[in-house]
Amino acid sequence: MSENPLKFVPQQGGATPPPVPAVQTYGLSRVYGQMTALSSLDLTVNRADLFGFIGSNGAGKTTTLRILATFLTPSSGRAEVLGHDVVREADRVRHLIGYMPDFFGVYKDMEVTEYLDFFGACYKIPANVRDKTVADVLELVGLSEKKGALIGALSRGMQQRLGLARVLIHDPQLLLLDEPASGLDPRARIEMMAILQELQRMGKTIIISSHILSELQTLCNRCAIIEKGRLIYCGPVQGVRNETQAGRVFRVRVVGENTRALDLLRARPEVVEADEEDGRLRVVVREDQAETGLLAETLVRGGTRVIEVREEELGLEEVFLRVTKGETQ
Ligand SMILES: Nc1ncnc2c1ncn2[C@@H]1O[C@H](COP(=O)(O)OP(=O)(O)OP(=O)(O)O)[C@@H](O)[C@H]1O
Ligand SMILES: [Mg+2]
Repeated sequence: MSENPLKFVPQQGGATPPPVPAVQTYGLSRVYGQMTALSSLDLTVNRADLFGFIGSNGAGKTTTLRILATFLTPSSGRAEVLGHDVVREADRVRHLIGYMPDFFGVYKDMEVTEYLDFFGACYKIPANVRDKTVADVLELVGLSEKKGALIGALSRGMQQRLGLARVLIHDPQLLLLDEPASGLDPRARIEMMAILQELQRMGKTIIISSHILSELQTLCNRCAIIEKGRLIYCGPVQGVRNETQAGRVFRVRVVGENTRALDLLRARPEVVEADEEDGRLRVVVREDQAETGLLAETLVRGGTRVIEVREEELGLEEVFLRVTKGETQ
């Protein structure tokens, strides 16, 4: 489990080496009958990324992950995992990935160790090293103490972690995790996130789809947003607001009534929205036009006394809601 798949060659002069792709899709499309589930998706995930895959219900996340996991063939376009084509080199790809589907059954009457040993055998891990491999993955997911337990007696959070242990058994370089934290309570989710961070530190590339965007924001370094099978954004989590032109949000406090201030702000072409919230004003300004001084100046010139103008950090969740139309399919 300790193999580091990163093969960065340090460059002279301390320059950061270019990222190496772990997953690349080129015009990836998938139709189900008349229905287009994925439409010409160009996705890049770099090695050692903890990559958040974001989209509303029916956006095409599971379809994409299933194609990368070689369970589904694309209708057109292609996808590569660590340089291997997922259709032509499906066998090779299967050994490089660990796919945890959104719903997976566990064998409730089996013991934890028995279950993992079974999957180890499926991956042809030799019997003499399987015990050690099983012990290693159990330790990694924090289930060492439950190794003799019946799976049916484990909590939901433990069963999810066992599912993760299962996909780690053959030491894959790329993990495809479809909503691994769904249905978990906050503590179990935090534990799951901590394990994923540990796996990233070990050099694994991880793609995780989730609806809990606040968690993805702190967890992931890069992300993609898809809507109705189309890619809206793919890049660093920090860049999502700028790139998607989601706008910038300011909180403004003025002396006295807010009505006049609202009128003044709404009259500016740069202002997309201005509303009253908790006695203060919440102002959304177009991305390229925003500056704190502009709002203050507008208000002061209009005769309003300003107490505070403060920019608010736009979270991933808010950006997501702004750049997607909320249409599910
Ligand atoms: N086997 C199938 N046959 C027909 N349509 C399908 C099939 N699988 C998925 N779809 C459709 O393709 C679209 C994309 O589905 P997909 O499951 O990839 O979305 P998702 O982003 O994973 O959604 P969710 O957040 O609900 O899991 C949806 O409209 C879905 O109804
Ligand atoms: Mg899904």
